[in-house]
Amino acid sequence: MKTINIVVFGIGNVGSTLVNQLIALKEIWENEREIEVNIPVILNSTLAFYTKGGASPEWETNFEKFGVPYRLPEVITYIKEQKLENLIAIDVTASAKIVEAYPYLIENGFHIIAANKVANTKSQQFYKELRELLKVNQRKFLYETNVGAGLPIIDTLQKLVNSGDKVTNVRGVFSGSLSYLFNTFSDSNAAFSEILADAKAKAYTEPDPRIDLSGVDVARKLLIIARELKLEIEIDAINVESLVPKTLNGNSTLDSFYKNITLLDHAFLKKKENLVPDKALRYVADLNVQTQELNVNLLEVDRSSPLGALKAADTLFEIHSSAYKDKPLIIQGAGAGTTVTARGIITDLLSLTAQLNN
Ligand SMILES: NC(=O)c1ccc[n+]([C@@H]2O[C@H](COP(=O)([O-])OP(=O)(O)OC[C@H]3O[C@@H](n4cnc5c(N)ncnc54)[C@H](OP(=O)(O)O)[C@@H]3O)[C@@H](O)[C@H]2O)c1
Repeated sequence: MKTINIVVFGIGNVGSTLVNQLIALKEIWENEREIEVNIPVILNSTLAFYTKGGASPEWETNFEKFGVPYRLPEVITYIKEQKLENLIAIDVTASAKIVEAYPYLIENGFHIIAANKVANTKSQQFYKELRELLKVNQRKFLYETNVGAGLPIIDTLQKLVNSGDKVTNVRGVFSGSLSYLFNTFSDSNAAFSEILADAKAKAYTEPDPRIDLSGVDVARKLLIIARELKLEIEIDAINVESLVPKTLNGNSTLDSFYKNITLLDHAFLKKKENLVPDKALRYVADLNVQTQELNVNLLEVDRSSPLGALKAADTLFEIHSSAYKDKPLIIQGAGAGTTVTARGIITDLLSLTAQLNN
């Protein structure tokens, strides 16, 4: 039996789903895979819950009852005292502070699995130094859910690169929330703001929808893909068409954004009215590997194309390469959501566990 010891950082939407999925899998993995999953510590931004004997289905109630204020060194000391092996930190936060602690975790023996995109979108220097530190300490870093949630985007790109294929272009609709907005808007008579409200009610958007509409999240995903393809670039190199008018951007309040939302309605209605019948609006990310051009734009695409035919909140990634020259390799499906993202983290966990010796 191989025992893995997981410290979970972050128990929001995705993190809590992940802990529940791991508890449900525990017996199955023990019986079918000879893997014992132990979760000794569960953390949010202020509290640590030391599960003592493992997380049970009542962990959420116990977290509230027995969670104690923590500092990271105390957590590490506890793990060391318990003489636990096969240490894995799972970062299910959006926190830059946790990423700053990655070197400390790695030096203390942790492998890292992250849904958090921050580590892969900081400076190129940090990106490189992190990988060097991982190498020196013989630790692994897996982050499949950084792009496309549970869809196998990073894995596919790595396999293509490792097999000697040359990826030339990656393009697509990378954001589930923006996919929903434009797929619905292109086919409906409702105002853009009504569709935005509907998307928010369905929990497709961030609490502040300007984070989606500014294109920052899509640009981060494009950067992660570009770096996977060995381009040494910074986030500023990406040309991003923000969909938030300058007057309503991050410097003004969310309240004033909603008060002036009709500005967006007018702008998008005009774009739609100018569309010829066989075209649809899509928020498209595009990477040309050879020219190192990275763009995120609202484009008019043919309705008959894979991008034009997208429905609901699906994302789509088109990968063009030497091998996939005439027809791109297409990966399509839900690119956001707690269940699929937590499953994606578990796929990383299985792949990491398979690489551990004992
Ligand atoms: N939702 C999706 O579909 C999806 C898909 C792919 C990737 N992701 C990524 O997954 C991550 C989590 O998303 P989410 O929707 O679950 O976020 P969320 O609901 O906002 O939860 C974030 C969690 O992180 C905790 N946290 C913040 N700072 C921390 C710190 N310094 N130490 C320990 N815990 C800390 C928060 O604790 P407090 O409650 O105490 O603040 C909270 O429990 C994000 O990076 C997101 O981009 C999400």
